[in-house]
Amino acid sequence: MGPNRTQVAIIGAGPSGLLLGQLLHKAGIDNVILERRSGQYVLSRIRAGVLEQTTADLLDEAGVSARMHREGLLHDGIELSFGGARHRIDLRALTGGKQVVIYGQTEVTHDLMDARSAFGGATIYEADDVVPHDFDSNTPFVTYRREGIAHELRCDFIAGCDGYHGIARASVPEESLKTYERVYPFGWFGILCEGPPSSDELIYARHDRGFALISTRSANVQRMYFQCDPKDSVDNWSDDRIWAELHARVDSHDGQHVKDGKIFQKNIVGMRSFVSATMQHGRLFLAGDAAHIVPPTGAKGMNLAVADVRLLTKALNAFYVENRSDLLERYSETALKRIWRAEHFSYWMTSMMHRIEGASPFEQQLQVAELEYVTTSRSAATVMAENYVGVAVPQD
Ligand code: FAD
Ligand code: DHB
Repeated sequence: MGPNRTQVAIIGAGPSGLLLGQLLHKAGIDNVILERRSGQYVLSRIRAGVLEQTTADLLDEAGVSARMHREGLLHDGIELSFGGARHRIDLRALTGGKQVVIYGQTEVTHDLMDARSAFGGATIYEADDVVPHDFDSNTPFVTYRREGIAHELRCDFIAGCDGYHGIARASVPEESLKTYERVYPFGWFGILCEGPPSSDELIYARHDRGFALISTRSANVQRMYFQCDPKDSVDNWSDDRIWAELHARVDSHDGQHVKDGKIFQKNIVGMRSFVSATMQHGRLFLAGDAAHIVPPTGAKGMNLAVADVRLLTKALNAFYVENRSDLLERYSETALKRIWRAEHFSYWMTSMMHRIEGASPFEQQLQVAELEYVTTSRSAATVMAENYVGVAVPQD
């Protein structure tokens, strides 16, 4: 039997929900997380891998970063590959010393789950039919079923951290919702493989056959992606065919090539840009993928989720400790500044790096001209670097 009253009811135990739960707990604010899936299922989803420094700093603040510091990989730069050659963007030199940390979303989630168990935080996994109610009043509540039994959780606030397909945004009256969307006609094929890294830094490759990305997880596990038809099936791709495609797209003229390994995971994801400019309705607040989606090219998805959670925690804390609701009232407006910056960056990176079916030779040359500019002009490279490591927006 779960609790029937809390201060903040959180829907979703992805990175947003778990981190919000952790930060609220640290601030002395009681919370309960309701998650549709099992904990094991949540941990089996392989997703993002790049943490901005501000994300890593917030994990420090949340007290969940010890393993990230031990196992995460600090990167000072990225490589852009096009026309058969590689060009380095020195993130650190161009941003006054900022770096990114390569540490899988699964690991972040794992660390947050461990921390939650350690303080005995309530997480109701396999909660069915979660529905938020009365959030336009001061007495909202959430109903759900667990093993067929109906439950009701009363609360002061509801946090919708339940991803793009969740129930929170879908519960906001349609006439109050303002959304923006762009769906891309391509997807990413992702693999995890055992083997050594192909490069010291991530490689983002533009090739006439399509985009590819060489990333990493550790000295022995590598993460790679290549552009594909979003409707394709992993069953159409033998290991040999995958390696041939990665070699064709990423190997350079000067003999640097992708290192093959034993593939143990394959998945295909679609690509979308989406913003719900309504991130709050009464006492319901949306955070992370529930409110916005970026195509993964700029590695911003999880970082944006974490930035929302940081703002929401601050606003809830101001409400409970100082009896102020102005930060809660401004939550959407404040969060959207960072979100639109990241939306533009992700769209720009995606448009510059991918093969666009039906693009004219003129448009293809424009992609190359832009890449040449970014890799030869310090000002243009700085635009890429400061967005990649994470832009500080005025309200931060
Ligand atoms: P989620 O991680 O989606 O978590 C939401 C949680 O809510 C889930 O656990 C879900 O089960 C739960 N939930 C949903 N509906 C309900 C309900 N009705 N009731 C209760 N619980 C519910 N970003 C990158 O930067 N790089 C990548 O390579 C990358 N790959 C991605 C691949 C995929 C398939 C997806 C979907 C996203 C990817 N992202 C990537 C984005 C990044 O993973 C997300 O931005 C990040 O997971 C957002 O975290 P979140 O907690 O807001 O949402
Ligand atoms: C990874 C994912 C990304 O979307 C990206 O831009 C860089 C790295 C990764 O999963 O490692």
